[in-house]
Amino acid sequence: VTPFTLAERIAESPNVPVLSRNWERPESWSLASYRADNGYHGLRAALDLPPDEVIEIVKNSGLRGRGGAGFPVGMKWSFIPQGDGPGKPHYLVVNADESEPGTCKDMPLMLASPHTLIEGMIIASYAIRANLAFIYVRGEVASVIARLRDAVAQAYEAGLLGRNILGSSFDLDLVVHAGAGAYICGEETALLDSLEGRRGQPRLRPPFPAVAGLYASPTVVNNVESIASVPAILRNSADWFRQMGTEKSPGFTLYSLSGHVANPGQYEAPLGITLRELLDLAGGMRAGHRLKFWTPGGSSTPLFAADHLDVPLDYEGVAEAGSMLGTKALQLFDETTCVVRAVLRWSEFYKHESCGKCTPCREGTYWLVQLMERLEAGQGRPGDLDKLLDVADSIVGKAFCALGDAAGAPITSSLSLFRDEYLEHARLGHCPFDPAASVTYG
Ligand code: NAI
Repeated sequence: VTPFTLAERIAESPNVPVLSRNWERPESWSLASYRADNGYHGLRAALDLPPDEVIEIVKNSGLRGRGGAGFPVGMKWSFIPQGDGPGKPHYLVVNADESEPGTCKDMPLMLASPHTLIEGMIIASYAIRANLAFIYVRGEVASVIARLRDAVAQAYEAGLLGRNILGSSFDLDLVVHAGAGAYICGEETALLDSLEGRRGQPRLRPPFPAVAGLYASPTVVNNVESIASVPAILRNSADWFRQMGTEKSPGFTLYSLSGHVANPGQYEAPLGITLRELLDLAGGMRAGHRLKFWTPGGSSTPLFAADHLDVPLDYEGVAEAGSMLGTKALQLFDETTCVVRAVLRWSEFYKHESCGKCTPCREGTYWLVQLMERLEAGQGRPGDLDKLLDVADSIVGKAFCALGDAAGAPITSSLSLFRDEYLEHARLGHCPFDPAASVTYG
């Protein structure tokens, strides 16, 4: 039985926080600080095992991908062919192109503890027999790039990267690659195209990267938090990891709370915690205000309303309630927020970031913005809501990659939860919240 109250969950998860436990230490990002708290002990444990066994441990832990989709990490690693011999390169690529509106967990993780990621990458590369690994990081975040490059240099100096790592005869080179600020490059195959020097646009899948990825070779693409979760599993065991969270969504994770919350920030907790419990930790909504709507996992996941406070925030719980756990980016909005305007902002983002490769997304996101601008300004015409749903329906499930589905999610969910608010705009002829701030339409 999954424990329900926060106290019970924490009693079941005595070891949380794991990922963020060093973040308050002085110079938490330095190799010395990381090593002072069991840093690189997971790597030592891994290098004593055959690669297949490392994969087995990660599989048994039940760790699921933290980039949004929740695909089992150990299973993804096990798709990489093991017996294809030397001379057949495999690659590990860490997706650090975090760009989803509201999503902000990987950047603080890399700033505060870059060695957790590097240690996880060495373990993962050893397991999948890769000798070259990349971190593809958003180009805009210069401070994170600098921090990663310093940490990688420290790791080389200490013999943790390069030839014969810790005397194991395993070699690994690690490259920090800065992207150029396109959201689409967070889609794994667009990322690979960009890394190869081409314009970042998604490829057709299958083949998945595990079969034909970087330079058409078997490649594991994992999110930063997924890989950073690996050292603790190797240090402590798969069973230890499974003590936390739920049966199908084991372990701990970073929940990012932003918006109208008293104390926004990163909250590491076992999977399955609820927003009500997280709000207890975060001091509640800002004083004098109440929750109106929220995203469970960034702007690409269907919205929740205030009555979803007790949904268990794990992959199954959120899906059963009609949304997706996604990146666990909880954006909280209080009663002063116009939901139509919030959705318009996201629609503008998706239109701007659509790569243009496929027609449903390129054209559809344009029309979504046209309609949403009109509706938000109170100039909606009869039939506009149906038209909006129709355009969303022409994108969702029909676009080349997940960006199209993402663009449709806030539209359809806000219409089903807050249809009256859309209608109120048209009835008044302006936004009922702050007409002066309406986006200029016409
Ligand atoms: P997906 O479910 O298609 O794939 C997830 C992962 O599993 C991929 O790495 C894929 O290669 C692998 N995979 C799936 N089936 C496979 C198979 N049969 N064989 C081998 N590998 C397989 O999800 P997708 O399209 O990669 O990502 C969508 C997610 O990205 C959404 O859930 C969304 O929340 C998240 N997202 C995250 C953002 C961020 O900033 N972190 C931005 C936008 C979206």
